[in-house]
Amino acid sequence: MGSSDPNPDPDLDSVSRSRTRDAHAVSLVWDDGREETIAVGRGETIVDAAEAAGLSVPYGCLYGACGTCTAQLLEGEVTHVEVPRGLKERARERGFVLACVATPESDCRLRVGHGIQAEVMGTPWK
Ligand code: FES
Repeated sequence: MGSSDPNPDPDLDSVSRSRTRDAHAVSLVWDDGREETIAVGRGETIVDAAEAAGLSVPYGCLYGACGTCTAQLLEGEVTHVEVPRGLKERARERGFVLACVATPESDCRLRVGHGIQAEVMGTPWK
């Protein structure tokens, strides 16, 4: 390795470099009133960033299929990096997102927690 090494800090993986360069502030809000703000890098998912920050958010499959990580976007903008198959179009139009495949496009606030998926899915008996 010489001075032409394209990686200025080999101790940082690509996500860490991305986080420090292009991060957005994402506030996670729980129904009990707790709120935590984390930095989420470009292309990094909200679940990955929350886990890296030591925050517990619900998740299951981590590829957009099960809906366990359903969150409600309160402010800002996110993009799904994979097709959010676990969320119906109608729910997406109401501001629900899948945090395991969502990355922020701006600073944003998201409501998170275990009750949200059930709220969105309803029950099969209704
Ligand atoms: S964890 Fe399964 S859809 Fe997000």
